[in-house]
Amino acid sequence: MNENPTPIRVLFVCLGNICRSPMAEGIFRKLVEEQGVENHFDIDSAGTGDWHLGESIDPRARQILSEYDADYEHTARQVTTRDCECYDYLLVMDAANERALRALCPVSLHDKIYRVMEPIDNSEVPDPYYGAGMQGFEQVYRMLNQSLQRWLERWLEDTNT
Ligand code: 4NP
Repeated sequence: MNENPTPIRVLFVCLGNICRSPMAEGIFRKLVEEQGVENHFDIDSAGTGDWHLGESIDPRARQILSEYDADYEHTARQVTTRDCECYDYLLVMDAANERALRALCPVSLHDKIYRVMEPIDNSEVPDPYYGAGMQGFEQVYRMLNQSLQRWLERWLEDTNT
């Protein structure tokens, strides 16, 4: 295995960057570490909104990540046009994130934007912030964990790792 590959750059995008996209980041960081392929990826997350800039992960999301040993240090930030240029894959959680990102990114870069659930059923990852309770966060974890395993398989096949 090539230990110094050109990394695949993956950015997870949600609305606030405190629940879904940091959960995706934590889950994906754990998956690549388990496979010993962390050198093959640059991973980050960002939000389309600016309400929570500088904040850490929502405590409910952190609780789930901790239960699955996927917690990490996170500071919320807003997605930028530069992210669209720099990242290879921009994986959004829902249709609203997709619209916001398409409005921000030049059209020539729109083919980098995918829904994170695309390998399963292209569905939307529901926003758990208001009223969904811990069950909502569990559901987000399950959806992301299932889909991100598929993305990882796909990327490792592409790179013949
Ligand atoms: P996220 O969840 O997009 O998964 O981070 C949200 C966090 C905050 C808000 C909405 C969604 N908010 O409206 O403050």
